[in-house]
Amino acid sequence: MLVSAKEMLDKAKAGKYAVGQFNINNLEWTKAVLVTAKENNSPVILGVSEGAGKYMGGYDTIVGMVKGMIKDLNIDVPVALHLDHGSYEHAKKVIEAGFSSVMFDGSHYSIDENVEKTKELVTLAHSKGLSIEAEVGSIGGEEDGVVGKGEVADAKECKLIANLGVDMLAAGIGNIHGKYPDNWAGLEFEALDEIQKLTEAMPLVLHGGTGINEQMIQKAISLGVSKINVNTECQLTFAAATRKYIEEGKDLVGKGFDPRKLLAPGYEAIKQTVKEKMELFGSIGKA
Ligand code: 13P
Repeated sequence: MLVSAKEMLDKAKAGKYAVGQFNINNLEWTKAVLVTAKENNSPVILGVSEGAGKYMGGYDTIVGMVKGMIKDLNIDVPVALHLDHGSYEHAKKVIEAGFSSVMFDGSHYSIDENVEKTKELVTLAHSKGLSIEAEVGSIGGEEDGVVGKGEVADAKECKLIANLGVDMLAAGIGNIHGKYPDNWAGLEFEALDEIQKLTEAMPLVLHGGTGINEQMIQKAISLGVSKINVNTECQLTFAAATRKYIEEGKDLVGKGFDPRKLLAPGYEAIKQTVKEKMELFGSIGKA
């Protein structure tokens, strides 16, 4: 069922595990994530960046696809449909379109402007039953045109934003979208600890989930992370499986060119990646 992310994240926080946000790009992606969540009895968050939203035709198309799939495939675990790194304008658009959760990324504004805009959107999102995520500091690297310098969040600014009533908070702690460089210094656990202490029960969000090792993921969860975003890793495993199918010439045999056959290995690869992440995050059996 399509729900706001609030309850699943509060439960994750209390149970010391994290719910995965898996970004979607098309129908295969959406189906792979939803079916894997159902098979593993796990809550799940479908992330949609503005770029992916445009690619899929628009937010109404996505709401129709996700709601239809939940019904047709009898997806009986909690599913949140969430805008990833939303601008002020797009946050309003998805609230109208029927998403169940929204991220407003005001991290590139001054803290005063971030507070002002987040506050307005918290009221709007909550009046329509959506959960809302805000961001302080920034996530390094680039995702769908959203570029961040990777500043570590200031704990006092996190508290200011958390006090506005957001349901989850993304705080930059040295995490990066995309692949991590070999010389990456790792997550800033001291900063994470300080942020969580000041924001108390606030579920924290770890962006840039691709390539963070098991030990760091577990430590982050133990320090208060309740939502972990994964995007690039599904793209990489999908691409590798599709490449293998074509390099083995399978598209040239019989009706191997049929998209339902051509895209099947990539679909299975996404399912496998999502399952592995759910195991690592501890959300299996928690629906
Ligand atoms: P990765 O692409 O690094 O997994 O990051 C995903 C993310 O944080 C989405 O907001």
